[in-house]
Amino acid sequence: MAYAALRSIGAYAPKNILTNDDLTKMVDTSDEWITKRTGIKERHIADKDEFTSDMGVSAAKLAIERSGIAKEDIDMVVCATISPDYFNMPSTATMIAKKLELNSVTAFDISAACTGFVYILSIAKAFIESGMKKNVLIVGAEKLSAITDYTDRGTCILFGDGAGAAVISATENKEEAIIDVHTAADGTYADLLMTPNGGTGSPHDALESEAAGVYMQMKGNETFKVAVRTLTKDVKDILEANNIKTEQIDHFVPHQANFRIIKAVGDALKMKEDQVVVTVAKYGNTSGASIPMAINDIYEEGKLKKGQLLLLDAFGGGLTWGSALVPFSPLK
Ligand code: ACO
Repeated sequence: MAYAALRSIGAYAPKNILTNDDLTKMVDTSDEWITKRTGIKERHIADKDEFTSDMGVSAAKLAIERSGIAKEDIDMVVCATISPDYFNMPSTATMIAKKLELNSVTAFDISAACTGFVYILSIAKAFIESGMKKNVLIVGAEKLSAITDYTDRGTCILFGDGAGAAVISATENKEEAIIDVHTAADGTYADLLMTPNGGTGSPHDALESEAAGVYMQMKGNETFKVAVRTLTKDVKDILEANNIKTEQIDHFVPHQANFRIIKAVGDALKMKEDQVVVTVAKYGNTSGASIPMAINDIYEEGKLKKGQLLLLDAFGGGLTWGSALVPFSPLK
């Protein structure tokens, strides 16, 4: 049987930076409030003509180069995004594949908001284990600035742009393999976090009179409580199901939405500070890109070593959530 292994990681953050002080000129807020309530200090913002796929391509090029796998051997590209280049078609994954000159691969997007990277990891794992694909490029890429309402202080302080990518490939060696991925969703909480307009769920008249509905809207405080409760349970479940103790985790990489959520979940799991990867201060919440961007940070800092065990967890619009136990298994 083929197993699926995480071979490499890459990421990209746009050069423009939006600080908390910049935001105080746009909405009624303060650096102190944002820092205390979220842990965020700044976020990266893409240029107007920089597409989600462009950021995805920059991250993907790094991941492919670091994987030791020839670009031509990639047989599938999956992109997790809620801010695609185009609303309905073509998918951002096909644009990424085109820009990488991968012209006959399977390519598609998935929409699972901030849980997107865990979802695409599970998809890559399933395709590889079934024998249908050998080398899958997964990309979490978001231009959230394009769907953020910069008059709403409850949301605009949170989000940033960026991309992260990984190459997942087949292996016979079980030691290298992704151990487990959990994914779940509960649509009864759909209204906590949504972009209400722009799809077939909203009549055209509403689109014309309520243009703001194309931006993200969030019931932040309710989302916060469900996030802490759900994530703590989900992470406990995946550790227990695989008979793995917290001490065996080298790097706990949670979705970077809010430092207080990360801290609450980390504390509930009795994680030591140096096990928990926190990048929310410099990138804000980049949704489907946040986990691979965080893994890339520890990789580039030299902290992520071959054979180390990553625990991922994420939570987002849908509501969706998920977790994964992933050894880092580079070929070189
Ligand atoms: N600056 C100053 N004051 C603010 C701001 C701001 N930017 N935003 C809200 N406030 C005010 C509110 O108006 C409220 O004032 P009031 O008490 O006078 O009514 C007060 O601060 C408290 O507001 P809360 O919403 O209760 O603040 P909270 O502590 O919950 O923090 C936040 C808000 C940061 C949004 C938090 O709830 C959060 O992080 N929620 C979870 C987000 C998340 O994880 N989302 C899922 C992933 S995102 C995705 O999938 C795309």
